[in-house]
Amino acid sequence: MITRRSFLGRAGAFATGLILVDAEVVHAMDHAMPGGNSDLIGPGGLAPFVDALPIPPIARSVGTRANPEHSGQQIPFYKMAMQEMHMKVHRDLPPTRVWGFNGSSPGPVFETRSGEPLLVEWANALPAKHFLPIDYTLHGSEKDVPQVRSVIHLHGGRTPPDSDGYPEDWYVPGKSAVNFYPNRQDATALFYHDHTMGINRLNIYAGLQGMFLIRDAVEDELNLPSGKYEVPLLIADRNFRKNGELDYPVSAIPGKPWVPEAFGNFVTVNGKVTPYLDVEPRKYRFRIVNGSNGRFYRLSFGDGHEFHMIGSDQGLLEAPVTLHRLQLSPAERADVIVDFSAFLGQQVVLGSDSLQIMQFRVAAKGAPDTSALPRKLRTVERIKETAAVQTRLLTLDEHLNLADQSMDMMLNNTPWHMPITEKPVIGTTEIWEFVNLTEDAHPMHLHLVRFQLLDRQRIDTNAFFDNRKIEFMGEPEPANAAEAGWKDTVRADPGTITRIIVPFHGFTGRYVWHCHILEHEDNEMMRPYEVVAVGGRD
Ligand code: C2O
Ligand code: CU
Ligand code: CU
Repeated sequence: MITRRSFLGRAGAFATGLILVDAEVVHAMDHAMPGGNSDLIGPGGLAPFVDALPIPPIARSVGTRANPEHSGQQIPFYKMAMQEMHMKVHRDLPPTRVWGFNGSSPGPVFETRSGEPLLVEWANALPAKHFLPIDYTLHGSEKDVPQVRSVIHLHGGRTPPDSDGYPEDWYVPGKSAVNFYPNRQDATALFYHDHTMGINRLNIYAGLQGMFLIRDAVEDELNLPSGKYEVPLLIADRNFRKNGELDYPVSAIPGKPWVPEAFGNFVTVNGKVTPYLDVEPRKYRFRIVNGSNGRFYRLSFGDGHEFHMIGSDQGLLEAPVTLHRLQLSPAERADVIVDFSAFLGQQVVLGSDSLQIMQFRVAAKGAPDTSALPRKLRTVERIKETAAVQTRLLTLDEHLNLADQSMDMMLNNTPWHMPITEKPVIGTTEIWEFVNLTEDAHPMHLHLVRFQLLDRQRIDTNAFFDNRKIEFMGEPEPANAAEAGWKDTVRADPGTITRIIVPFHGFTGRYVWHCHILEHEDNEMMRPYEVVAVGGRD
């Protein structure tokens, strides 16, 4: 029997007997329960700010290969090997087993330019056995498929379909895939990560992700802080055991270890637990990626010190937005400028509510700061709603399965394996309306495209459940300045319709759209879609 999900249902799923309990609390209790994992290091169990922030190496090409689009031309060729390794994540922990690329976790940072294509061979050099709890009941993760599989996707890349890392195109240790990235898109911070059907959450938790920066002439002109004053920050929360091992939470349901959300007691930045960075009293540019499985952050520097957001997922905003706090969902990126000149000789903590993320130790003096915080960054034309040729109403659903307390999550109540239902025509623009009928916020992501947020508006979900009627509660909230640029991932709030407008450009072919809470994505909250040629729509 299937029922609509409720708070009672969720608490019941964990057999805690609590009502109105938050997933994070449930998780903590899970581990605190007798018979739970007593080796888990609880909040506050590791001293903050004792390790320096690591900066991942820059990826280096190993040669050139023919451009698949123009065979006469040679383009850079990279080799990235996914490997298991042991890494010091904190001063007081023995080395932790992680997965990474070419000896680095997170992987090396790609630095490339708009319009300059490259090829990457992603090689699976991982061991044959997984070290995190696989749920064999999840679609695509059954006992008859190999445990260790991987396929890499470049998040936010305008990539041809056969190079996009389709979740079912995984390969086993010893195999590899060569992907082509044309990079015909504006300067921004993309990130690459595993996308394997059914175990994506585990592969990324193990460390299979890294950043990919695209630069362009518009950005060059701005004189933004650069070199050592531009710092990538890949943020991901994790749990550790006293022996240093990564700990991924499991459910209380026998044979079904999947959990609806995995939250860590610690935040890692570029792989280190709550690190520090020595900075000069000047402007810095931080390229922030929320690489967490399911945690949403409300980032602040110091006690609400102002900072300037200059870019979002898909590139520079029209103008800097001054903020004191920034909400960042899983997979969202923020390009921010922070000026430490007011903090000579002091310490500034980057945090999220009561959670510490990292510390900046501001020197008493430094070289003169000749970088700029320009007032105008670039032109971002807002797309008019009238440009849309089609509007799709798409529900986000969760159902509790009363028989065994497991959870079904879906998009439009349609499981992954059903035929493709979304087939936009290349070159056209559509409005997608995410009707979130659940009690969680879901960061919704479409591959291939960039889009703009139109607005969010609360609805009466009961009216929708009863007869698919939309009864609005309150006024539509248009995108605020921080969300008004080009995006590829957008927060769909509970009980709310979130509307985006999407021009489908680039390539025809099969892609995916999904919730970027990795636990949801692995459990059917992902669907294929297909960009079709003119005349191919149905
Ligand atoms: Cu971050 Cu389907 O991607
Ligand atoms: Cu993506
Ligand atoms: Cu979700």
